[in-house]
Amino acid sequence: MNRRQFIKWSGAGLAAAGGVALFHSLAQLKEVARDNFYNHVQGLEQEYGELLYLASLAPSGHNTQPWTVKCITCHHWIIGTDAARWLPVVDPENREAMISIGAFLENLAVAARAKGYEIEFQVKAQSSKDKEIVDVQLYRVGQTNPFDIEKIQLRRTVRNNFLTNELSSEDIRLLTEESKEPFFYFSRRGKEGKYLAQGTVLANKIQTDRDSTQEELAKWIRWSNEESKKYQNGLTAETMEIEGIPRWFVKNFYSRQSALAKHFREATIQKIQEQVATGSGWLLLTSKDSSISELINVGRKLQRIWLAARDKKIAIHPMTQMIEEVAMRDELSSALGIAEEIQLLLRVGYIHDYPSPVSMRMPLQSFVI
Ligand SMILES: Cc1cc2nc3c(=O)[nH]c(=O)nc-3n(C[C@H](O)[C@H](O)[C@H](O)COP(=O)(O)O)c2cc1C
Repeated sequence: MNRRQFIKWSGAGLAAAGGVALFHSLAQLKEVARDNFYNHVQGLEQEYGELLYLASLAPSGHNTQPWTVKCITCHHWIIGTDAARWLPVVDPENREAMISIGAFLENLAVAARAKGYEIEFQVKAQSSKDKEIVDVQLYRVGQTNPFDIEKIQLRRTVRNNFLTNELSSEDIRLLTEESKEPFFYFSRRGKEGKYLAQGTVLANKIQTDRDSTQEELAKWIRWSNEESKKYQNGLTAETMEIEGIPRWFVKNFYSRQSALAKHFREATIQKIQEQVATGSGWLLLTSKDSSISELINVGRKLQRIWLAARDKKIAIHPMTQMIEEVAMRDELSSALGIAEEIQLLLRVGYIHDYPSPVSMRMPLQSFVI
C-alpha cells in the first residue's frame, strides 16, 4: 500500500468510526498479550495439565499448534495430530508438523524434569498423517529444576531488529553442543550465507506469487483482536511484529482477502529482503532421513537450541521456504555440499532486547481429546 492509499484508508476509517466504534477501533492499538495460564481440564490433574500447557508453548509453522493429547491414564498419553491444523500446501508431507511435535515433546521433557518427572516415548505412527504419533509415559524421579520452566515461557520467534555482528564461536558451540547430531552454521557474509539469503528471497517470491500458498497463509492470519481471542492460534499482527499505527491500521481494515492483494505480497518480499540483510548467519539442522523419528529428533534439537538462545540474547527466525519448495530443496544440499537431508533453516543473530512472547496458545480443552 502506498502513502496516499494509507492516508485515504485511515482517513475513511476514522471518519466512519464514531462513538463506540471509535473506542473499539482504538482498542486495536493495544498489543494483545498471550493468556499465559493453564486452564483446567476435567479429569486431568493440575500438575499434568500444567506440563501439557508448557509443552504447548512450542513453536509450529503458522502457529497451527498441530498436536493433540489423548490421556490413557493420568501419566500415560498419546500425542497425535489433528488434520484441521495441517498445512497441506506448504507442508504436504507433514514434515514441519512432525518437527513441531518434536519441539512439543522437548518442552514436555524439560518441563517434566523441572517438576520431578522423566518421560519415555515411543513413536507409534507408520505415517506422518496417522492420528496417533507418539506414546508418552511419565515417571516420577524427584529432582527438580524450576528455572527451566521460565526458559520455555519466555522463548519466542523474533523476526526483526537483528544486529549484524557475527555470533561468537563460543555462542555457536553453546547453542549446539548438546546435540550429538551434526549441524551447519554459515555466516551471513560468506558465500553460502549470501546464497541462503538470495534463495530465501526467491523462495518467498515463488510462494507469494502462488495463490494457494497465500490462501493457506491468509487462513491462519488473525487480523483483529476478536479473531485472535476466538481461535488462539495462527499469526497475529503482534507475532508478525507490525507495530504502532500500521498495526492499528491492519487490525481495523485488513481481512483474509488482504493477504491476496498485490501490495501485501510485495510488502512481504520487501520485509524478507530487509530481514535476510541482518543477523549473523544461518543455522541448518539436518537428519539422515525424513522418517517420523528423525523429524521428531530435529524438533527436539530445534527446541534445545531455542531454549538456550534467549540467555545469550540470540534471536532465532526459522525461514523454511527454500526447504518447502522441492526444486530448491534438492539444489540446496548439493550447493552447500551437505550429504544429509536439510530439515530446518534458521536465521540467527544477536538482539539488544529479547521481546516478550506474543503468539497465542489454544486452551488445553482444544487439544486434549
Ligand atoms: C517447523 C517450523 C517452521 C517455521 N517456519 C517459519 C517461517 O518460514 N517463517 C517464520 O517467520 N516463522 C516460521 N516459524 C515460526 C512460527 O511461525 C512460530 O513458531 C509460531 O508463530 C509461534 O510463535 P512463537 O515461536 O513465538 O511461539 C516456523 C516454526 C516451525 C516450528
